[in-house]
Amino acid sequence: MSLTRPLSVSGGGVGLATSARPFSLSKVSSKKTSSKTSSPPGRMSKKPCMMTMTFPGGSRDPKIRNNAAATFEAAQQAGIKQQEVTADTEKWESRAEVFEYTSAANPTLNPISVYVHPPELHEVGPTRVIPFDLSDTLPTPYPATGPNLMSSFVRIDVGDSIDTTASATSQAFYVIRGSGTTKTDEGVIDWSEGDLFVLPASKTGTTVHSAVDGGAFGGAALYWVTDEPLLKYLGVSATEKRFEPTMFRREMMLNSVQDLADEKGAAGEELNRLGVLLGNEACPDTKTLTHVLWSLLNSIGPGIVQRAHRHNSIALDMAVYAKPGVYTMMGQALDENGEIVDPIRVDWVTGGVFVTPPGWWHAHYNESDETAWVLPMQDAGLYTYQRTLDIRFVDDEVANLKNGRIRGAAYEVTNKQYTNISCMLQKQLSDENAN
Ligand SMILES: [Fe+2]
Repeated sequence: MSLTRPLSVSGGGVGLATSARPFSLSKVSSKKTSSKTSSPPGRMSKKPCMMTMTFPGGSRDPKIRNNAAATFEAAQQAGIKQQEVTADTEKWESRAEVFEYTSAANPTLNPISVYVHPPELHEVGPTRVIPFDLSDTLPTPYPATGPNLMSSFVRIDVGDSIDTTASATSQAFYVIRGSGTTKTDEGVIDWSEGDLFVLPASKTGTTVHSAVDGGAFGGAALYWVTDEPLLKYLGVSATEKRFEPTMFRREMMLNSVQDLADEKGAAGEELNRLGVLLGNEACPDTKTLTHVLWSLLNSIGPGIVQRAHRHNSIALDMAVYAKPGVYTMMGQALDENGEIVDPIRVDWVTGGVFVTPPGWWHAHYNESDETAWVLPMQDAGLYTYQRTLDIRFVDDEVANLKNGRIRGAAYEVTNKQYTNISCMLQKQLSDENAN
């Protein structure tokens, strides 16, 4: 039986460009390349200043060929056999591929789809790790919930213990239910429902969790998220810790949200969104949970709609508490009024997790009579550092559209402006050389 439940994807997969089109090296090298013939007709000639293009490779230069021959002779003198060199070089050359730029720049990848990891998984059964493994859909040759993150439930029966291990720069544990202790390379801590703690890279990456109270279902439950897939993709191991182990107590987080509510209440307005970002003293610039992970404790009051937003990070949303009637609508595009086109509805179920795909617009609705809580875990620490999180809120985007603007630096510079900049820099260089 599958542990994960795919939702309807009537909204379609992530829209991507046509597939990449490889072509042979011989085809490319048979063409004469020059600054005149390689440019689209009419484009270069319209430019108001001359821009010099040079062929990047030097192998056609006879002087460099002579240098290569001399190098080879020296290698032979050092005992390197010509056959070995030829075989290795040909092997390296056989791996090189080139693609036509416009059709290959946005390659077809499997979409990251909407899936849920239901709470029933950790509410019954023996002590165990219950992975939210979507590696078949990505695909990856290692367990992964998204390209960078792996999430799991950990169920621990009262009186039991279980080890968890990850080769990761960051591990986060949120206590869904119960209380207990966790032994790590950095020391031993206690935890109870609603607490969250993060661990850096360590010698073993192993923790031992023990439950002393199991709450309503006779076993404690943890929500465990790591960046192990990111490290697997890079082919690296975490050897250096980038932050110290950090604990967020439930009471501290709730008090922070309450302080926020009180502040705004004094102004007589009801906030649409009451949430606190969880930061770490080691990440003062990104203001994130760790340098890779990002989290938010977000509440939504009864009858409230939190309008759509989107970001480039994936969100693995833990529904901390929700009565029936609380849900997220998500989809890939907005219409001109800022409504999500062909949305997928995901209902929040207390203790369950769902995937919000990167880049998708998502809006939260609470049609119940109680405040609902959600704790998204994202790889947004990394995106924030890279300046690529690109979080956008629907009302800003609709206003931009009405003003004829498309946000994003790539669209802010026209071809004419770019040409002017190039000419200005060339003139500046000429002036400097003249002086
Ligand atoms: Fe979000």
